[in-house]
Amino acid sequence: MADDKDQKDWLQEDEQPTTEQPTTEQASGDPESGDPIEVNTDGLKSDSDEETARVTREAAQENPPDPDEHIPDNLRAGPGDENPYQWHTGLKREHGSTDAMEFIDVKKSFGRNTILNGLNLGVPDNQISMILGPSGTGKSVCIKHMVGLLYPDEGDVLVHGESVPNMTDDELFEMRKKFGVLFQDGALFGSMNLWDNVAFPLRQHTDKGEDEIADIVNRRLKEVGLGFAGDKLPNELSGGMRKRAGFARALVLDPDIVLFDEPDSGLDPVRTALLCELIQEIHEENGGAYVVITHDIMSARRVADYIAVLWKGRIVESGPASELFNSPNQFVRQFLSGEAQGPLGME
Ligand SMILES: Nc1ncnc2c1ncn2[C@@H]1O[C@H](COP(=O)(O)OP(=O)(O)O)[C@@H](O)[C@H]1O
Ligand SMILES: [Mg+2]
Repeated sequence: MADDKDQKDWLQEDEQPTTEQPTTEQASGDPESGDPIEVNTDGLKSDSDEETARVTREAAQENPPDPDEHIPDNLRAGPGDENPYQWHTGLKREHGSTDAMEFIDVKKSFGRNTILNGLNLGVPDNQISMILGPSGTGKSVCIKHMVGLLYPDEGDVLVHGESVPNMTDDELFEMRKKFGVLFQDGALFGSMNLWDNVAFPLRQHTDKGEDEIADIVNRRLKEVGLGFAGDKLPNELSGGMRKRAGFARALVLDPDIVLFDEPDSGLDPVRTALLCELIQEIHEENGGAYVVITHDIMSARRVADYIAVLWKGRIVESGPASELFNSPNQFVRQFLSGEAQGPLGME
């Protein structure tokens, strides 16, 4: 069996943390007073805007600022922002499955920068879930908690009911075998051809013979449409092909859970659509909990069974995609319709 360090090295091949700020334009409505704000409801089965505003106002009233709660400065829009959580109903709609993973009151800060501030989320088994949020909200930080590359300062993260922060190194090593991870750029080894890249986890983490490995690698490469490209080096491939190769590699150990960190970043809309289709097809074939992290709403419309909207270190709302796309919550509606108008402003 390979040692723990190799597994960690493989998992840690990630992009550097970003410092990007949300880029949505300044909202013109007034979230403080709860005045109705125009939301473009194109393509949404919707109640009237007034009804939307009323339901959201009620939700906000049920969610008054807790006078004892210390809200870290970096999560406030400005000095006058008493309650950055006014849109967070925290509503967890039924998903009709068991939770493959759970975040329970997770808090995580880097120095004075609080990223997760009481995150509660259940990720359903056997569905494609999407965690949506603007850049820099902590989506990648979430993923890293799932595989035990980061630990919460407070709270707990469960994978199949087992507490990740409480695992011994051996348990962590075993637990990570449940995961396939597709990082942003595919994270392939530049000096290895595609075939060897995809074979790598099998050679590293199993004692399968080369014949069996060849069967698996050929099948997975074919599945992602790269059966012809096994002898190519990563830099001879397009970005889309590198992602598909990363996907093939994420699948070779038959993972129960597959994590995709912004699989659509850097792809044009057509290739994004194709990749989304591929994710759906492969999920249909293999089952398991797929978690796709993205800020791309179109991808969410295409593939998500379940959606959680992350903002200011907490889930605003989570639930089946069809319900979230029709949510009466103004923030959720604004975010999922990609509109500049609404409570989500530039900060
Ligand atoms: N290892 C780290 N050390 C310090 N700060 C970090 C680290 N990882 C992430 N961050 C900070 O957390 C914030 C959220 O990062 P990230 O999860 O990468 O955002 P995104 O939602 O775009 O994936 C970033 O602003 C980044 O500065
Ligand atoms: Mg990220």
